[in-house]
Amino acid sequence: MQMIPVITIDGPTASGKGTVAARVAAALGFFYLDSGALYRLCAYKALKEKVSLEDEHALGEVASSLAPHFEDAKIYLDGEDVTDKIRAEEVGVAASKVAALPTVRKALLEVQKRARKAPGLVADGRDMGSVIFPDAPLKVFLTASAQARAQRRFNQLKEKGIVANIDTLTRDLEERDRRDMQRAVSPLAPAKDAKILDSSELSIEATVNQVLQWYKEVTQ
Ligand code: C5P
Repeated sequence: MQMIPVITIDGPTASGKGTVAARVAAALGFFYLDSGALYRLCAYKALKEKVSLEDEHALGEVASSLAPHFEDAKIYLDGEDVTDKIRAEEVGVAASKVAALPTVRKALLEVQKRARKAPGLVADGRDMGSVIFPDAPLKVFLTASAQARAQRRFNQLKEKGIVANIDTLTRDLEERDRRDMQRAVSPLAPAKDAKILDSSELSIEATVNQVLQWYKEVTQ
C-alpha cells in the first residue's frame, strides 16, 4: 500500500507556519491540518465554560468531546462561528497551557491522525513531524527571530484594527515559546530529520517555494 504523503511544518508561534502550510496545501491540492486550532478550540471552550486551566481531568474531557466543524475557511464549535475568536491572544496563551497536559494531547491524537487523507496532507503545529506523523516524507521546521515574529503579529492585529504593543507581543511570544519548548510531553523541537527554514528575511512566497522545492526533491 502506498502511504499517503504528509508534509509537516512545525515551528514556534507566529513563524508564519499557518500561512505557508495553507499555501503549500493549495499548490499541491492537499488537505490542510491546522493542529494549533484544535488546542485553541479546547482552550476557548474551557474559558467559555469556566473550566479551570489547572484541572487536567476536566480539560481532557473538554478535548475529547470537541466536535468542531470546518467549512471553507470557517471553524464552528457547537454551532458558533469561532474562526476569529480562537485567534485572540488570550486564547493562544490558554492554548499553550492546555497543550502542556498529556490528557489533552492524547485526546487530540486520533483526530489529527485521521486528517491524513488522499491525495495528501500538509500539517502545521509543534509536533507534527516529531510525534504525529513521524513517517512524513518531508518535515520542515519553520523559524524566525522573535522580533520578526512580533512584528508580523503586530501587523496582523493592526490589519484587524487591533492596537497592540510590540514589546508586550515579543514578551508574550517568548513566554509561549518557553512553555512550548520546556513541557515534558511533545515539546517544541525540530524532528531529527527536519529541514530548518529561517524565514526572518524571506517573503511568504519565497518560503512557500522553498518548501515546494524540497517536496519535489523528496518525491523525485
Ligand atoms: O499554532 P498556534 O499558535 O495556533 O497554537 C496554539 C498553541 O497550541 C501553541 O502555543 C502550542 O502550545 C499548542 N500547540 C501544540 N501542538 C501543536 C499545535 C499547537 O502544543 N501541534
